[in-house]
Amino acid sequence: YCTKQRLSFCCSVMALPVVDTEYLKEIDKARRHLRSLIANRNCAPIMLRLAWHDAGTYDVSTKTGGPNGSIRNAEEYSHGSNNGLKKAIDFCEEVKYKHPKITYADLYQLAGVVAVEVTGGPTIDFVPGRKDSKISPREGRLPDAKKGAPHLRDIFYRMGLSDKDIVALSGGHTLGRAHPERSGFDGPWTEDPLKFDNSYFVELLKGESEGLLKLPTDKALLEDPEFRQYVELYAKDEDVFFQDYAESHKKLSELGFTPG
Ligand code: HEM
Repeated sequence: YCTKQRLSFCCSVMALPVVDTEYLKEIDKARRHLRSLIANRNCAPIMLRLAWHDAGTYDVSTKTGGPNGSIRNAEEYSHGSNNGLKKAIDFCEEVKYKHPKITYADLYQLAGVVAVEVTGGPTIDFVPGRKDSKISPREGRLPDAKKGAPHLRDIFYRMGLSDKDIVALSGGHTLGRAHPERSGFDGPWTEDPLKFDNSYFVELLKGESEGLLKLPTDKALLEDPEFRQYVELYAKDEDVFFQDYAESHKKLSELGFTPG
């Protein structure tokens, strides 16, 4: 083998993409494809949830899980917490078909970044080069919506994330809604579930409102003083929320990934 051959052999075994100009061009095209697909099908919320559920299995101590595309395996998308996400996986498959070079891991994270962007949220820096994995983590790594602050900390600290990340990322619930047939919960968190803004925090501070949802884990952000200070800050200042959200989302999308 010459070095180049050896490199490409190694990459195909490890599913490690070579991020050259061609790959970057494909990322750019996939980004455009995702923009129109998400706008046409109004599927920004489920695409963001897909990106989060692929990444949110990361375990910083064993370096397993994370944004590695493993959620495409039936074994993983059949986990109860992933109910409904097959739809988003199938939408992404349309993009993968047109741009097969791009790894699933990159594609799902790109979809999350584009979902936030096209609904009016902050621009999130996207660095490509994630490896695909066929190994799915065991069920139970994602948060349980029926639990409180200590559980949120257990789950997010396991990923290597902080209190600020927990609150900023919970702001993702500015998009979308819960579906009784998927999670047993029902309804949107905000009046306009297709607009990314700070209204999740504004509604949280207002208390119960007719027709709007608050999960036990959402309410935990109010009850815990450490979390609450960020809720109050983000409700008051959307610019700070956007800045912190973009930073935390980038961290989530790069768990266990060191750009080559
Ligand atoms: C939806 C739980 C964090 C983004 C949901 C649903 C639940 C849930 C129960 C409803 C699913 C359904 O019935 O369709 C939680 C819990 C979290 C959390 C317990 C812990 C903090 C996050 C994060 C993000 C996110 C970090 C993204 C940054 C979303 C989105 C939806 C959603 C966009 C709406 C999906 C749709 O409309 O189909 N979440 N979530 N969530 N979650 Fe979370």
